[in-house]
Amino acid sequence: MIDIHHHLLFETDDGAPDLEMSLAMAEMAIDEGITHIVCTPHASSHWRFDPKRNQQRLAVLREKLGDRIQLGLGCDFHITYDNVQDAIAHPEKYSINGKGHLLVELPDHGIPQGLTETFYDLQVAGMTPILTHPERNLTLLTAPERMIPWMRRGLLVQITAGSILGAFGKSSERMAHKLLADGWVSFVATDAHDTRRRPPLARKPYEVVAKKYGEEVAQALFVLNPRAAFNGRPIPEPPEAKGVFEDGRSWWQKLLKR
Ligand SMILES: [Fe+2]
Repeated sequence: MIDIHHHLLFETDDGAPDLEMSLAMAEMAIDEGITHIVCTPHASSHWRFDPKRNQQRLAVLREKLGDRIQLGLGCDFHITYDNVQDAIAHPEKYSINGKGHLLVELPDHGIPQGLTETFYDLQVAGMTPILTHPERNLTLLTAPERMIPWMRRGLLVQITAGSILGAFGKSSERMAHKLLADGWVSFVATDAHDTRRRPPLARKPYEVVAKKYGEEVAQALFVLNPRAAFNGRPIPEPPEAKGVFEDGRSWWQKLLKR
């Protein structure tokens, strides 16, 4: 499995506090069957994104772990005016391995103003935005149809592996499964921060997805699509996304009688 969202870098953000924890997380990931990790430190008004420092940390981890696991670099990108302008000017700086796929994290509450235009601007600059864990955003939990215009224009969706098992509560679990059942999801990633509170567990979520939605879906979401993003290629299994690409009102709209 290829994990495209993982706070593995030590002393960088709210992920691994030290090298020891980074190595323990990597060992746990290896045990889970993860072969590649994209290290994705936050870039936000709270967490400064420092590419040079990130590369140094990455080099230390690569040296310690050798061939046992492949490490890449990306970013957990928050929407701020400065971030967006900088990403448009330097798309390689924030995207996964500098090759175009960009993880975009929304605040837990609400949706930033002008987000539809922001996604478009990022795409025009050559990036493919990937919305991280919509099942954990309170606004999208109650109004998932807000994602439809974004997805119609090519936004991809990543959910958190833990959500599939209920680690973020019942509502997030329900929405994660609704998104999976309707084919809205292109990636499952761990969004790991440590080995205990938010560990890099993937095996059990993979098994649940394979059992409920089929082995092919699990392969696409845990292996094939993430591998394509890791290598900067178009994803081989794009979402069919029931209610998004069909004409007329989406099932969300019908459900809500809008
Ligand atoms: Fe994250």
